[in-house]
Amino acid sequence: VSRRIGILGGGQLGLMLSESLMRFGVEIAVYDPDAQAPLCKHATSVFNGAWSDEEKLSAFFEECDRLTYEFENVESELLFRLEKKKDLMPGASVLRITQHRGLEKGFLSAQKLPHVQFAILNKEDAENARTAIVDFGLPCLAKTTFGGYDGKGQYMLTSESDVQELVDSNALTKVQHVLEEAIDIAIEVSCIVARSRNGEEVAFPIFENQHHDHILDLTLVPARIPHSVASEIESIARTAARDLNVFGLLTVEFFLSRKKPRSAAAREVDGWYIMINEFAPRPHNSGHVTMKACDLSQFDMLARILLDVPLKKPQLVSDQVFCMGNLLGDVWIAQGKQELDLSTLNDFPDVIDVVSYGKKDARSKRKMGHFVCRAETHNKAIDTAHKFRNSLKTKQYLHSKL
Ligand SMILES: Nc1ncnc2c1ncn2[C@@H]1O[C@H](COP(=O)(O)OP(=O)(O)O)[C@@H](O)[C@H]1O
Ligand SMILES: [Mg+2]
Repeated sequence: VSRRIGILGGGQLGLMLSESLMRFGVEIAVYDPDAQAPLCKHATSVFNGAWSDEEKLSAFFEECDRLTYEFENVESELLFRLEKKKDLMPGASVLRITQHRGLEKGFLSAQKLPHVQFAILNKEDAENARTAIVDFGLPCLAKTTFGGYDGKGQYMLTSESDVQELVDSNALTKVQHVLEEAIDIAIEVSCIVARSRNGEEVAFPIFENQHHDHILDLTLVPARIPHSVASEIESIARTAARDLNVFGLLTVEFFLSRKKPRSAAAREVDGWYIMINEFAPRPHNSGHVTMKACDLSQFDMLARILLDVPLKKPQLVSDQVFCMGNLLGDVWIAQGKQELDLSTLNDFPDVIDVVSYGKKDARSKRKMGHFVCRAETHNKAIDTAHKFRNSLKTKQYLHSKL
């Protein structure tokens, strides 16, 4: 019997997951509202429908033996009904919590997992929002509880005039928000935990993440943190995955601060304050680095879980530093072409991989591809990543090579 795995969402995460799945000979079915989504060009079976179209989603579930999602903004209430007929991994109960910042924060505090200080701002209370925010304390961030990604729907509030501006914009009257204390971040890291139905559980090495404009810019492995901090982080991530009852991948994003935060729920290890930022119950942008840095990638791991293939602990393939850099639409815009001109690769032998997701519409800040480079030190890896990406954006550089 040919097995068919369904992926809700046809973006780059689905595309790369499908590559790992295909190596086990299975067929891929994808559901995405956008017929141009990267995976839609490659899957065996393509369903284009709205996320709210229960009939179409139900037909999609019928076609598949097992399903997963690479996109979090699917209505989880629908998935609770659909998962009764077909196995969805991770389950709808995991998605319900992780897709909603309010429920996610409530979960963290109920499970006594380390987190930042937060408060919920209901839209019904928007009238008193100004006082509520000032009482909560500045600087802080207001984030929409549902539907945000890559920093969308987030407001940094440092002064009372920022607060007034947000109140005047009426954003708070429209949807629920969560307030978070602004953390003085030393390093952001992520840890991906994989759990199978057969009781296996493994964690990836911890990644160090650098953001630019609230969007992931670079991921480095190994992370520059002490061993004691790394092992606490791994143990927190594993506990969270068990508490959420995840079968599949759980990515846990962390803030690490060297300054005591306001939150009493931060965990302190050797002068480092550890707090969970958020969860993603799926492969993660930072995990792209595993495609080169580890003997099993995050996508290979999820494919194994979905197909009941035994897991193994992923190992780093060398003791070098690996660095993944995102390529945003801005690179394509700077080049002024659909196809990415990669001629500068000749000058960057330490750039060992470049991936383009095949998205047609190059928009600023849209994730369109990534690359991985390696070096002997973190600083060299970061330097190479910046230089390589700049070379792709610099016309003179590209021309001098013609
Ligand atoms: N409370 C905070 N304090 C400091 N920086 C923050 C805070 N919340 C978010 N950020 C910054 O914004 C980035 C994106 O925020 P995040 O909540 O992870 O949303 P997204 O869903 O867009 O990834 C974080 O990785 C971090 O760099
Ligand atoms: Mg995030």
